[in-house]
Amino acid sequence: MTQDVSLYYDELHRWTSKDKDFQVFSGLENDTIHRFLIDSDTDKFSPDTVYKFIDPFMPPHGASRGLDAGCGYGGTCFRCLRVHGGRWTGVTISEEQWSYANGIAKARGLEGAIQFRLASYDAPLSGRYNVIVAIESLIHSADPERTLNNLVASLDAGGRLIIVDDMPLDETKAADAEYIAGFKQAWRCPVALSAPGWKALAQAAGLRLIAEQDFSHLMKPRAEADLDAALIDLSSQRAEKTKQGFERLSDAEIGGLHLERLHRRGTVRYIMLVFEK
Ligand SMILES: C[S@@+](CC[C@H](N)C(=O)[O-])C[C@H]1O[C@@H](n2cnc3c(N)ncnc32)[C@H](O)[C@@H]1O
Repeated sequence: MTQDVSLYYDELHRWTSKDKDFQVFSGLENDTIHRFLIDSDTDKFSPDTVYKFIDPFMPPHGASRGLDAGCGYGGTCFRCLRVHGGRWTGVTISEEQWSYANGIAKARGLEGAIQFRLASYDAPLSGRYNVIVAIESLIHSADPERTLNNLVASLDAGGRLIIVDDMPLDETKAADAEYIAGFKQAWRCPVALSAPGWKALAQAAGLRLIAEQDFSHLMKPRAEADLDAALIDLSSQRAEKTKQGFERLSDAEIGGLHLERLHRRGTVRYIMLVFEK
C-alpha cells in the first residue's frame, strides 16, 4: 500500500512537471500540494489560506521543533520556518517530492534548519517534536491508529498535533456510496476517517482536542452538472493516459472529481483538528 502511494505521488510529480494547468491547480508555486481555500479577508483563493488557521497554534517564535508528516514538496516546512522559525523536518514517501524539496532547501541555503526524509509516518521517527502538522496526508493511512500512535510517540508532552484533512461524515446517503468508494480507491485512502473517528483515536492515544474548525465553506466545488461533464471528459482521456504511463494520474483526476462532488454535497468535510498531548 505504502509503495503504491509512493508511486502515485511520483507519477503526479512527473505529470505536474509537464502540465502547466495542473501546476497552477496543484499549488506547486507555493511548494504545496493541498487545497486552495478562500481567504475571506482578501477574497484570494490560495493554498496559503490554511496557514492563517494553523498559525495561532504554533509554538512561540523560534521554539518550534516541527514535523510535517507527509510533507509533499515541503511548502509547510518552508513557510513555518519563515514565519515561526525553529527547526523543521518533513517526511514523505515520494522520492520525487523528497528530491524536489531537498533541492529547494539547498538552493535557499536552509539545510541547517530544515531536513527532509524519505520515510513513512508509520516508521519509527528519530527526533522529538513540539508540533506536528499533517495537511492532507494522514488520509492515506491504511491504519490510522498505528499512524497516530507513531506520531504521538515522538511528540513532547504539551506538544500539538494539527491535522487538516478531508473527513467524510459518519452517516452518508446511499446515493453517495459509489462516489465515496470511488474516491477512496482512486486516491489511495483505504480508511478515510471521519472527524469523530480521528477524535476517538486521538483521545485513546492520550491527546486532548483543543480546537476544531470546518473549512468546507471556503472551498469552491463546481456544480454537479459541470462535474458530470468533467467526468465524461477525463474518463475519455483515461485509456490514452494509461498508455502513456499515467494511469495513476488519471485516478487522481477522477478521484478528485468524486471528492469535489462529495464536498459539494456536504458528505465530506475539510476539517482542522488540533490536539495537545
Ligand atoms: C496531498 S499530499 C500533501 C502534501 C503536503 N502536506 C502539503 O500540504 O503540500 C499528501 C502527502 O502525504 C504523503 N504520504 C502519504 N502516505 C505517507 C506515509 N505513509 N508516510 C509519509 N508520507 C506519506 C505523500 O508522500 C504526500 O507528500
